[in-house]
Amino acid sequence: MVIKNLELETVCGITSKLPDNELPEIAFAGKSNVGKSSLINALMNRKSFARTSATPGKTQTINFYNINKELYLVDLPGYGYAKVSPKEKEQWGKLIERYLHGSKQLRAVFLLIDMRHAPSANDKMMYDWVVSQGYNPIIIATKLDKLKRSQIQKNVKIVKDGLGLIPGTKVIPFSAVTKQGRDEIWKLVEENLLG
Ligand code: GTP
Ligand code: MG
Repeated sequence: MVIKNLELETVCGITSKLPDNELPEIAFAGKSNVGKSSLINALMNRKSFARTSATPGKTQTINFYNINKELYLVDLPGYGYAKVSPKEKEQWGKLIERYLHGSKQLRAVFLLIDMRHAPSANDKMMYDWVVSQGYNPIIIATKLDKLKRSQIQKNVKIVKDGLGLIPGTKVIPFSAVTKQGRDEIWKLVEENLLG
């Protein structure tokens, strides 16, 4: 997709009313620090339009990026960040649930998993929960550049087995550093806009 117009249109915190958008939405979920905001920057061809940080817990709101007035890329807060208080964790969880459950324009959920490690219990819970909401998440295995070539296939399998994916579910290895996987992810975003 050629990016002609870009806007961070809506930012929602724990008490916000969520927008009732007209345009289709594509959401990105995953644990804190997995690379959601970095992926969204890569898709938008920007270095730091979406704020990223080496410290987990950077994105604490749901951010709706309006792309070309055609669609929204939706950056969700990360889950599983140890330093957040149980109360805050619960509030963010509720915000994410409220969005995934309530959005009328959500067309696809991409779930990001750090491919250096096996999926966590939280990753598995998130995957199962998204499935229970009627979505078949597309998996993005992030930080591909951190792996040796010889490890890639093995780690993709660990991600697949760890999540217990529905057969046929796509797993796309991606690196925000080399941008490997970006074109395939855009293709999947575009394919899902109508569905
Ligand atoms: P929260 O907003 O805290 O939920 O995190 P996030 O999932 O949005 O992660 P973010 O994009 O902020 O990235 C977290 C850290 O990982 C940053 O230091 C990024 O530079 C780094 N990072 C993200 N993607 C990649 C990648 O593909 N490769 C490498 N090497 N680092 C990455
Ligand atoms: Mg973020």
